[in-house]
Amino acid sequence: KTVSYDFNVTWVTANPDGLADRKVIGVNGVWPLPVIEVDKGDQLLVNMYNGLGDKSTSIHWHGMFQNGTNNMDGASMFTQCPIPPGSSFTYNFTINQNGTYWYHCHTDYCYPDGYRQALIVHDVNAPFINDYKEEFTITLSDWYHEMMEDLSKEFMSLYNPSGAEPIPDSFLMNDGQNRTFSVEPNTTYLLRIINTGNFIAQYFYIEGHNFTIVEVDGVYTEPQEASTLYIHIAQRYSVLLTTANTTDVNYKIVTVADQDLMDTIPSNLQLNNTNWLVLNADAPLEQAVVTVATSDDLVPFDDFTLVPTDGMALLPDPDIQVNVTVYMVNLMTGYNYAELNNITYTAPKVPTLYTALSAGDLRTEEVVYGEYTHPITLAHNQVVEIILNNGDSGSHPFHLHGHNFQVIQREPPLGPLFNSYLDGDPIGYDPDNHTAFPAIPIRRDVIVLPPQGFTVLRFVADNPGVWVFHCHIDWHLASGLAMTFIEAPELIPTHVQIPEDHYAACAAAAVPTVGN
Ligand code: C2O
Repeated sequence: KTVSYDFNVTWVTANPDGLADRKVIGVNGVWPLPVIEVDKGDQLLVNMYNGLGDKSTSIHWHGMFQNGTNNMDGASMFTQCPIPPGSSFTYNFTINQNGTYWYHCHTDYCYPDGYRQALIVHDVNAPFINDYKEEFTITLSDWYHEMMEDLSKEFMSLYNPSGAEPIPDSFLMNDGQNRTFSVEPNTTYLLRIINTGNFIAQYFYIEGHNFTIVEVDGVYTEPQEASTLYIHIAQRYSVLLTTANTTDVNYKIVTVADQDLMDTIPSNLQLNNTNWLVLNADAPLEQAVVTVATSDDLVPFDDFTLVPTDGMALLPDPDIQVNVTVYMVNLMTGYNYAELNNITYTAPKVPTLYTALSAGDLRTEEVVYGEYTHPITLAHNQVVEIILNNGDSGSHPFHLHGHNFQVIQREPPLGPLFNSYLDGDPIGYDPDNHTAFPAIPIRRDVIVLPPQGFTVLRFVADNPGVWVFHCHIDWHLASGLAMTFIEAPELIPTHVQIPEDHYAACAAAAVPTVGN
């Protein structure tokens, strides 16, 4: 079936944390935005009109592979022009995946102004489909009282030479709505949990309960019990929760912000957030602050131990290795805070997809895409390995468009300090030593690159198109922590033409569609 939406995107006023009114990006005059729910196999059609008046926009369908529909990926200046105020754009694609996703604006400094929400793909064949009574979606996010445009000016100014990211003003669950979940005792529910924030990873637990993980980033996994999740930006989990066999008390659903990501913690910043699992509607909900001292007291579930139910084996040795290192640099050096190797990603003048479609025989030459886009061309069906090093002392949630990846190596727990940062040697890893991992590696589409650590990812280049690989912290994406995979450009299907509204958007934005 076809699921259709008309999105009239405008500024509206909201106050989700009860602390401050602010302008947010609403749809059809409402915020929070609609949760999009489809069934696997559905066609999703979203007609978007940009009524913001002062800001360009686009929508990325986070985790959707867009196989054959690269032009629907929504990544500004990778696959389309940003849609200027007063213009329309239609997103139209078929969803052959399942699980928990989200959608968000993918134009500079945009989604943390509120333009993000859950996208749920129901699947009658999910292995856990008969195991629960009802499902709930829980989004977690950091929240700023100032507009991204104002914050970004402060962030990028010479008064902030160290590149310290703005500290959120609060943390939200479900954008401040749906604070209580009415449940029956001894009954199983499916919870879908998504971090839709800009910057801060969060811990998640439910007082008095363990739960069973069954999905990670759209990948079904063998059930594994857990008590606490660590969910970085853009990551998702589905868990089965069996409620306590009592109607005497209600239980707290707790999130705790990862304070290690913040350079300073204002004394009035409430790091914890509470919703309620309500077993007894007559019992009062205590509003007391949750008694977790700090995020350092929590021990989260290790996602590397999850095993996909589809049993996809470890990919063979790679045909191409891409060795990248994150460096956060000082603005005073003239750089834009962030580099992968020695490149600060800078958007091209023409969306990279259009260059791929118009460059003829030169389309497989990286040089036509511009060095500053950090282009890597891939041949069809190559096994690609990304060795991702972190020369920074903060963690980074890295996301690949168009794919998920196997996570095949990482820094051992309590591993060595990141020595390549200090002495210029590549960090060592042993591709044959998987003893620390299950034989079938986890696949997901956002991985936490640990502080001063590394991780090794593999995927097959089986999806011709232009795909971004980037840190999902919006401050870091905007400051250049991104690169571009141009995958088998000669095989981008001929129906991936640039639709009329693409051209119209580019024309309205005064962006050329050909040449570079
Ligand atoms: Cu959630 Cu580039 O994406």
